[in-house]
Amino acid sequence: MDGKSVELSGITMVFDGYTAVHPTDLTIPAGEFHSILGPSGCGKTTLLRILSGFQRPSRGHVLIGGEPVDHLPANRRPTAMIFQSLALFPRMSVRDNVAFGLEARGMSKRERGEKADELLALVALEAHADKRPDQLSGGQRQRVAVARALAVEPAVLCLDEPLSALDLKLRQHMRTELRSLQKRTGVTFIYITHDQGEALTMSDRISVMNKGRIEQVGTPTEIYDAPATPFVAGFVGEQNVFAGRVTAIENGFARLDGPGGTFTGRRMIDVSVGDEAILMVRPERTGFAGPDTDDGNRLSARVEGRELEGPYLNLVARDATGRRIVLHLANDGRAHPEGGPAVIGFRPEDAIVMTAASGAADAAARVDDAGADMAARG
Ligand SMILES: Nc1ncnc2c1ncn2[C@@H]1O[C@H](COP(=O)(O)OP(=O)(O)OP(=O)(O)O)[C@@H](O)[C@H]1O
Ligand SMILES: [Mg+2]
Repeated sequence: MDGKSVELSGITMVFDGYTAVHPTDLTIPAGEFHSILGPSGCGKTTLLRILSGFQRPSRGHVLIGGEPVDHLPANRRPTAMIFQSLALFPRMSVRDNVAFGLEARGMSKRERGEKADELLALVALEAHADKRPDQLSGGQRQRVAVARALAVEPAVLCLDEPLSALDLKLRQHMRTELRSLQKRTGVTFIYITHDQGEALTMSDRISVMNKGRIEQVGTPTEIYDAPATPFVAGFVGEQNVFAGRVTAIENGFARLDGPGGTFTGRRMIDVSVGDEAILMVRPERTGFAGPDTDDGNRLSARVEGRELEGPYLNLVARDATGRRIVLHLANDGRAHPEGGPAVIGFRPEDAIVMTAASGAADAAARVDDAGADMAARG
């Protein structure tokens, strides 16, 4: 099997006057594991349906392997799609499920059986070929769906939230399996998810989508450490957020004066002196400032609560303005203040400063979801 590149050019989708996908350009090289990450309703499935030919776009073009495919229906495109429901045939054996699409390609019954067994070996299910889907675990059914999709030898495999029905442990296991299967086959994977952990662990690159627009395309590290917009910063991972006005810019850093204090962080996007802006710092980059550590940014707060996540510990603090600040610490057996006053600090290079203007409301909403008290914003 060989992967092919995918190119979306000016793809737009308007449903009865509602724009579900604004004009979108995206190029995915052959053999890439590409995730499309975004909240419910942002247009992920619509984009994937357009790409694989199940939905005709209002405008724009799709190229696969450099060839325009706009005129081709779904079954004539070199793509396969796995839907969230998997849609396996309950009365057929696992082998017949996998072989199902091959009959239309004029293969004999024996050839179909051989091909199905080959694919079942690829997903480590050769011993289960004669079972029915309901005799398998959720993860095994998932693998049958993957084998069935690969049977038609697609160059591009589209997966729409395929793991969302599985429990956490199995989901984490399947991440690794799907990723290694993708590497072994070389097929281009386009993977839809609203789970940032999934996107970050599996992908070569991620497109982060919001309200019908791709706001950033980048490697997991770029998306997490150098978010291009406040939405991306707030949607992927958690942030502690401080609001204020930019009072100085120097050497790529911006200083922010707000009700919670004066803080410095990396200047992102087009931040200028005088702008209303927000500073964000990850909970795992926020710590306690000791007497002899100089973290650059400091604030006084009260530690109010503690949430154990197993390997990690979230300490929840509140500053004088009532803002909630989360510290994500390794559960390494060391003692931490678990109540009462504390001085919290973070390094300027670990914080980013963005204008509060475009998309900031979305980031704020997301941080609100995480429990931050945005009402205290200046
Ligand atoms: N056939 C349709 N007719 C009208 N509106 C539609 C149609 N399909 C999708 N939409 C709308 O387009 C928007 C994007 O839908 P889409 O299914 O692409 O979202 P999504 O990102 O996949 O969300 P989810 O994570 O919930 O699956 C939604 O507001 C949806 O209601
Ligand atoms: Mg969807």
